[in-house]
Amino acid sequence: MTTVGIVGASGYTGLELVKMLVTHPEFVLKYLATTTGDTVIEALHPSLEDVITYPVEKASVEAVAEHCELVFLALPHKASMGFAKDLIEKGVKVVDLSADYRLDLDTYEEHYCEHEDKEHLDESVYALIEYYREDLKKARLAAGPGCYPTATLLGILPFIPYLDENAPLFVDAKSGVSGAGKKLSESTHFVNINDNIFAYNPLKHRHGPEIAEKIEKVHGKKMNVNFVPHLIPATRGELVSVYATLKEDIDPLEVLKKHYAGDMFIRIREKPVDIKSTAGTHFCDIFAAKNGNALFVSSAIDNLLRGASSQAMVAANLMCGYSEGLGIPKIAYVP
Ligand SMILES: NC(=O)c1ccc[n+]([C@@H]2O[C@H](COP(=O)([O-])OP(=O)(O)OC[C@H]3O[C@@H](n4cnc5c(N)ncnc54)[C@H](OP(=O)(O)O)[C@@H]3O)[C@@H](O)[C@H]2O)c1
Repeated sequence: MTTVGIVGASGYTGLELVKMLVTHPEFVLKYLATTTGDTVIEALHPSLEDVITYPVEKASVEAVAEHCELVFLALPHKASMGFAKDLIEKGVKVVDLSADYRLDLDTYEEHYCEHEDKEHLDESVYALIEYYREDLKKARLAAGPGCYPTATLLGILPFIPYLDENAPLFVDAKSGVSGAGKKLSESTHFVNINDNIFAYNPLKHRHGPEIAEKIEKVHGKKMNVNFVPHLIPATRGELVSVYATLKEDIDPLEVLKKHYAGDMFIRIREKPVDIKSTAGTHFCDIFAAKNGNALFVSSAIDNLLRGASSQAMVAANLMCGYSEGLGIPKIAYVP
């Protein structure tokens, strides 16, 4: 058994973490916190009424360290590193869902803000499970990948050795609105998103540099990544289509099947993938096809789970010596 807590329990990813912890066989929930506290979890998330009752406190490093062996930080970037640096020093394992420990220092400071915990940045493990599984087993700090980078990288990484690095890589990504967190904005307002679809921050979104950095880390190859995210009128789910140029003749589905043989949460599909089949699960579904040297790779995930909370839970499983699939959702919200 391992005692765990969540800081940021009132948010969307916080809720998904609570839902998994209710039935997790080895993690015992010992602490929930938000900015202000002074409430109970079922008041913040009425869907949890008669499922779990638990006090929510004002977040404090001392309280986390007193109650938890591992903590999930489901916080905005910048807020996370403020907690993580002291928690690690106090011996608490940290799984951070924000961008604070995902990137190299230069990439982070160019696209986010000044880093306030350079000391621990180097030891964080990027929690893209299929690629960093062994490192996670030894880690005390895991950095949850961005939701778009998760879907993109799982789809394209197996193909990088076969790609022409002089040709641009286009990533056309679509996300449900929960990807933006619970705070309302003009673009996520119902009247704007209903019956609508639009690109935002085309070629300038912060997940573009994250994708490029991780491709280079895994394969040692610099790719010209052109990332364009779109919002779609759905609550959850992400569909990523990558367009790339092959430099050699391959069978795309065979490449995927061979690469992910033995990975229990990757499903290689014979037909184009959809978001609904992965909604509510940790699965990443991937399809690929080619036309001459043009390659199309499509991947689908649930942004709140594989793109955030279930990926964080798998990281926590590995960090605590449990099996990867323990307490991880597999049944999709279909129909
Ligand atoms: N949504 C996704 O699909 C997704 C996917 C991948 C990664 N992420 C990342 O995961 C993190 C959480 O995302 P989210 O969608 O769950 O966001 P969210 O719905 O906006 O929730 C954020 C939470 O952080 C809390 N919080 C903010 N500042 C705090 C502080 N200083 N101390 C304690 N609590 C604080 C908020 O509590 P209050 O209610 O008290 O303000 C709220 O519970 C973000 O970094 C996000 O980028 C999200």
